[in-house]
Amino acid sequence: MADHTKTNLVTLTRHVLSDQKKHADATGDLTLLLTSIQLGCKFVATSVRKAGLVHLTGLAGATNVQGEDVKKLDILSNEIFINALRSSGMSAILVSEEDEEAIFIEEGLQGKYCVVFDPLDGSSNIDAGVNVGTIFGIYRVKDEGGRPSLADVLRPGTEMIAAGYAQYGSSCNLVLTVDKTIHGYTLDSTIGEFILTHPDIRIPDRGSIYSVNEGNSMYWDEPCKTYFNSIKFPTQPNTKPYSARYIGSMVADIHRTLLYGGIFAYPGDSKSPKGKLRVLYECFPMAMIMENAGGKASTGHSRMLEYTPTHIHDRSPIFLGSKKDVEDIEALYRAAA
Ligand code: AHG
Ligand code: MN
Ligand code: MN
Ligand code: MN
Repeated sequence: MADHTKTNLVTLTRHVLSDQKKHADATGDLTLLLTSIQLGCKFVATSVRKAGLVHLTGLAGATNVQGEDVKKLDILSNEIFINALRSSGMSAILVSEEDEEAIFIEEGLQGKYCVVFDPLDGSSNIDAGVNVGTIFGIYRVKDEGGRPSLADVLRPGTEMIAAGYAQYGSSCNLVLTVDKTIHGYTLDSTIGEFILTHPDIRIPDRGSIYSVNEGNSMYWDEPCKTYFNSIKFPTQPNTKPYSARYIGSMVADIHRTLLYGGIFAYPGDSKSPKGKLRVLYECFPMAMIMENAGGKASTGHSRMLEYTPTHIHDRSPIFLGSKKDVEDIEALYRAAA
């Protein structure tokens, strides 16, 4: 509920504007783009909440480019974001998990940003009422006077100018990183605004929680097996094992890792050498968030954000979270190289 005793509510829009004003060349365009993303998140939040009541759970009866059975809410969320982003007049290219091809915005509505997004993350959990989310990343087009092309999005994550996620759970949280700042906001649905609740998020240097689908462990490579065994069966004296937490929605697992510390992983393995998570709209945004909160994000062999995708739905193994925890697994991959 709005805290009516507080008369100085820091909304997401106001907070971004105040940060953007520090840049002499700020035009307000990014703030406008983020307003359309906020609208999409608010709309998806309400759709997710009432899904069970208006027959919006369950399968849509189609499969997507990922080979997944698409949920009705996957399609609804995707359309909500495409319409919000297109009508903002601030985007040139959209890449969505749910669209096989990139969407090039028509001339009259073209802007200077490219938005890559996962409209509904963790959708396999939706029918069980488990937390789901939205993930997004933003690039500026390389040449504002030129013709947008896939070269504007097939680029390293280091060139993303902003990234974030919304989590639809007990409350609707939105974490946003722009340049090097990173803050968390919580939706006050009575006034329809995201309010600053987690300023300057920092992840602990080391955690005590690991988050990985151990159902794949028989397919893992040796460094991966060695690493997870080392935190489950520690040999150093007076050392406790890590706790296991795995929700199966990346947004929920990452949000917990960001706030509590520890490591999240979706490794590559013998059945899926590039792992499962998609580079542009899952790995890169979460990697940027972790790095800007003082954490790390790695493929195991190299910095996640320095990877250059060759396809808009490219996948990569990923280990991210507390700096020291990620460094431990990188050391094992280096030793095995
Ligand atoms: P999406 O629902 O957008 O397709 O993403 C699902 C992803 C991610 O949310 C999660 O971390 C991972 O799938 C879980 O995969 P497993 O069920 O194989 O563990
Ligand atoms: Mn999916
Ligand atoms: Mn996803
Ligand atoms: Mn998805």
